[in-house]
Order: sequence, then C-alpha cells, then structure tokens
Amino acid sequence: MRAIVTGASGGLGLEFARLLAADGHDVVLVARSGEKLEAIAQELRAAHNVSATPVALDLSGADAAGALVAQIPQCDILVNNAGFANNGRFDMLDPSHVREEVMLDVVTLTELTRAYLPGMRERGNGRILNVASTAGFLPGPFMAVYYASKAYVVSFSQALSEETRGSGVTVTCLCPGATETGFADRAAMHDTLLFKLPKAGAAGVARAGYRAMLKGRDLCVPGITNKFVQWSAKLTPRRLLLWTSRKAVE
Ligand SMILES: NC(=O)c1ccc[n+]([C@@H]2O[C@H](COP(=O)([O-])OP(=O)(O)OC[C@H]3O[C@@H](n4cnc5c(N)ncnc54)[C@H](OP(=O)(O)O)[C@@H]3O)[C@@H](O)[C@H]2O)c1
Repeated sequence: MRAIVTGASGGLGLEFARLLAADGHDVVLVARSGEKLEAIAQELRAAHNVSATPVALDLSGADAAGALVAQIPQCDILVNNAGFANNGRFDMLDPSHVREEVMLDVVTLTELTRAYLPGMRERGNGRILNVASTAGFLPGPFMAVYYASKAYVVSFSQALSEETRGSGVTVTCLCPGATETGFADRAAMHDTLLFKLPKAGAAGVARAGYRAMLKGRDLCVPGITNKFVQWSAKLTPRRLLLWTSRKAVE
C-alpha cells in the first residue's frame, strides 16, 4: 500500500512515516524541507526495505494539492498532518500569514481528501488520518484561526467517517494536546501556560493516532488531560471557557 504523509520532515509526521514504513508501506513524504525529507527517506528505505519518496512542496500554495496529485496520482493511506499556528491578536497578524494558515490547515487538507478519496472508494480500501487538535473543541482567543481551523478538521473528518461507513474506507481524526515537536517554536508559544505544562512525546501521540486509524475509529483523543479538555469544553459555561482558553495561550 502507498501512504502519503504531509508534514513528514519532523514532529508527528516523521513518527507517522516511521510507523507506516515499519508496517511495510511505501511512503511519500511531503514538506517544504527537501533535504530533511531526503535524509528521512534514506533512513526508512534502509531500515524497512520500502520505497520512500520525498516531495518538497509548500502545501500552503494555491493548488498545492493539485501539484501533489500530479506527481502521486494514487494513494491508499492519506495522513493529512502538516499544520501550523499563528499566535497573536487577529487584527495584528500579517494577512499573508493568516492566508497561509487557512490554506495549509484547511484548504489543502480538504483538497487532498477530495482528490484521493474517490480512488480509495473504487478500490473498496483506504485510510485517511486527519490531524486536528484539542483546539478543535473550543474557541481560542489569540489563536482564533488555528482553533477554528482545527474545529473544521474535527467536523469535516467526523462527517466523512459517517459518509464512508461500510465502503472499506475509514476517516480518523487525531486530536493531540501540547506535544513535544517543532510546533511551539514556529508559533512562538514556549512562554504560554499551555506549553509550560508537561507535554506529550511525539512518538506516543503518533502511535495512538496510527492505531486508531488502523481500527477505523472516527476520533482519537490521546491521554487523560486531552480527554479532560474535550469534555470540559462541552460542560464549561461559554464565558468561563473563553477566559481559560485565553489564559492558556496568552
Ligand atoms: N505539537 C503540538 O503541540 C500539536 C498539538 C495539537 C495538534 N498539532 C498538530 O499536529 C500536526 C503536526 O504538527 P507538529 O506538532 O508535528 O509540528 P512540527 O514539528 O512543526 O511539524 C510540522 C510539519 O508540517 C510541515 N509544514 C509546515 N508548513 C508547511 C507547508 N507550508 N507546506 C508543507 N509542509 C509544511 C513541516 O515541514 P517543513 O517546515 O519542512 O515544511 C513539518 O514537517 C499539525 O497539524 C499541528 O497543528 C500539534
């Protein structure tokens, strides 16, 4: 089977690529950092005797999905993992950074799913793993676009998991909380309460999502703290929820 992992040059994506290759799948590794991808591809080929193809591509570009599909027309396992967050007051963010965030976290994820799902359905076999976040369960003042994007990913994935029921294709949404990757660096979040608290390891979070994908589960919220966030977002009064959410990332 051929698997595509977006954001495979580090963090969770690298761990997904390792899990897939260890299970004997051919992997296509997508991210912007071509040299990192080439080194990872070599590691995976040597360790697992699989085909590993690096594709250096900016997935926030217009029709990035089309460019990837032109190179890799077929996919059996799609891991929509690439994502990043802007951190700051919305009206002060650089508009080009906002666009980049929506393109990567929402548009390309949607377009890749739209491109590869029909083939999976025809073959009666396929897996899609979309990486959202516990941020998808609540609004996030000062990371408004990121939290809204992840809410989209949760909703989109769960709807598709129902649409694909019985087709041989499954759609799983992984919702990690703070995890030790390059994410906090890029979002400049190391000084926030959220990232000062203990963080999960990337390998364990990826393993939980990968197992959930293999079982065809619609949602995976790894770890007790993240489950607490999921449930308290449902039960906490909105005003208090917004206040605590703000304090976590301010
Ligand atoms: N870490 C956390 O605390 C956490 C919590 C909840 C959810 N998540 C989600 O987990 C997913 C993976 O993030 P991570 O934590 O592993 O962060 P990470 O270490 O920063 O990895 C992000 C990956 O996405 C790639 N990427 C970023 N911008 C890209 C672009 N424009 N085009 C193509 N690839 C791009 C990066 O590679 P290049 O830089 O080489 O392009 C990298 O491989 C994201 O969707 C994130 O929102 C993370």
